[in-house]
Amino acid sequence: MLYTPAPRDPKAPPVRINLLSDTQTRPTPAMREAIARAEVGDEQIGDDPTVNLLCERVADLLGKEAAVFMPSGTMCNVAATLSYCRPGDEILAHVSAHIIAREGGAHAALGGFQITPLAGADGRFTPDTFRKALHPRSRYQPPQVVVSVEQTANIGGGTIWKKADLDEVVQIAKSNGLATHMDGARLLNACVATGISARDMAEGWDSAWIDFSKGLGAPVGAVIASSRNFIDEVWRWKQRLGGSMRHTRSTTTSTGLRTITPTPGRWRGAFRK
Ligand SMILES: Cc1ncc(COP(=O)(O)O)c(C=O)c1O
Repeated sequence: MLYTPAPRDPKAPPVRINLLSDTQTRPTPAMREAIARAEVGDEQIGDDPTVNLLCERVADLLGKEAAVFMPSGTMCNVAATLSYCRPGDEILAHVSAHIIAREGGAHAALGGFQITPLAGADGRFTPDTFRKALHPRSRYQPPQVVVSVEQTANIGGGTIWKKADLDEVVQIAKSNGLATHMDGARLLNACVATGISARDMAEGWDSAWIDFSKGLGAPVGAVIASSRNFIDEVWRWKQRLGGSMRHTRSTTTSTGLRTITPTPGRWRGAFRK
């Protein structure tokens, strides 16, 4: 057995304040009601109105053409790198990034990609560190295809990338022919804290996603947004990975819809409830 949660001590007092993780939040009564009332349809054939609405809203929120609902944030990252890269390609990310440290080696196991870990304090690398990690195209070195950042940086302690640094990383990536991916599992925390809109934070990033199971009480789910063509590719990988579902989606996405709103102020309200 690789991982077994420690059994709870039956003599320990009941937990009243659970600080283990923001993933421990549960649906509120209003969310449960929304689940019960959700209009259902077949998500796999694009016929689930609740899922479609959620995707439209997230695409708009992040300023992208299209979006697709995924069962998890991990699948957003995996389907994204599978869509960007070919076996042998190189991805650049912070050494503590979720794609390196928490996804079971998925990017190597499923795609044959190598991830170059970039150093830096608190889960963030500097634009200069990124610039120095780039190498000219040559037959000796792997093609460098995509750079990924986490906003906020989870293992870094929930730290927030400065907008100016995000912009500089995008500019360096673009001038060197790399794609840009933002793991925004907790992007909206950064928006609330800084007052910068999600659209501005994600500006210039070819793909970006947000997660509904982080602090928001939704049981599962994340939505990744990008260009229409890229989302088509991500859809193909979602299908291949077994991520497409049927009617069950509506029950989960309806909770996402209750929390997602176009402004950080309203989002802040979602956290308070
Ligand atoms: C930065 C980051 N990316 C990705 C994920 C994966 O999200 P999920 O748990 O929905 O697979 C997490 C989960 O905590 C995360 O913190």
